Amino acid sequence: MADDEWQTAYEFAVQVARAAGAVIRKAGEDEIKIQTKSSTVDLVTQTDERVEKIIIGSLKEQFGEDTHCFIGEESVATGKPCILTDKPTWIIDPVDGTTNFVHGFPFVAVSIAFAVNKQLEFGVVYSCLEDKMYKARRGKGAFCDDEKLEVSDVKEIKKSIIISEHGTDRRPEVVSKIFSTMRRILCIPVHGLRGSGTAATNMCLVASGAVEAFFEIGIHCWDIAAGAVIVQEAGGILLDVDGGPFDLMSRRMVSANNTVIANRIIKEIEIFPVVRDDAEAAKE
Ligand code: IPD
Ligand code: CA
Repeated sequence: MADDEWQTAYEFAVQVARAAGAVIRKAGEDEIKIQTKSSTVDLVTQTDERVEKIIIGSLKEQFGEDTHCFIGEESVATGKPCILTDKPTWIIDPVDGTTNFVHGFPFVAVSIAFAVNKQLEFGVVYSCLEDKMYKARRGKGAFCDDEKLEVSDVKEIKKSIIISEHGTDRRPEVVSKIFSTMRRILCIPVHGLRGSGTAATNMCLVASGAVEAFFEIGIHCWDIAAGAVIVQEAGGILLDVDGGPFDLMSRRMVSANNTVIANRIIKEIEIFPVVRDDAEAAKE
């Protein structure tokens, strides 16, 4: 019974993500008014807020708000709780890659994930400027449009491309650690370092086999929840940056094609502290 129920939800999420992406594409044609959140480089636009309202509105209309919970990037920014319970929960990033959106850099994604009993059931990432629909349901494989995704089979770190991002924390001590980690990885040496500017898309690049790994400290659950299912269903793995188990709310993640690559990168990561997404809820 639940199996069919989640299939309907999965298909609906794909439709909602596609519609949201169309709104983002259209909004990119007009003048974009920018505001900031946690720092002067943490950008938000009316489109982020509008698209989140559209997505959550559609989901509430379809599934009700008594039994389903919602964690959305912009709702959390306005003070809504960020806590994952056992209830069916939607985890939404309406515009992943807001800085890209503002600058016209061509990677912007809508990310919608769904968890039940704290387990991710499916994830949808619509890379809306490229018009690529990435999706995966637990146990049923990962796809880009109709093409089945598989991670790369590279095991030698020296033959890999690794993605990381700089995030939005510009405190010098944090930036130093990020660049020190990148320098160490680059000098292994790897074939290259990359970054699309959207965590959700980065994870889809791991799932597609275009890169071997993506890691970041400072991402949020809404950036990576959908991508997490897509990477795992494409045969990849998720770990914490210290090699421990992946924790969606910890704001730390390594996603990779295999444990050999993941553990080799982990050796080079200089960890800095971040506040968990569910820290406020944990205090209560
Ligand atoms: C950001 C992107 C970026 C990552 C940041 C995220 P946003 O999300 O995913 O790639 O480096 O950590 O906050 O702000 O564009 O939704
Ligand atoms: Ca995001």
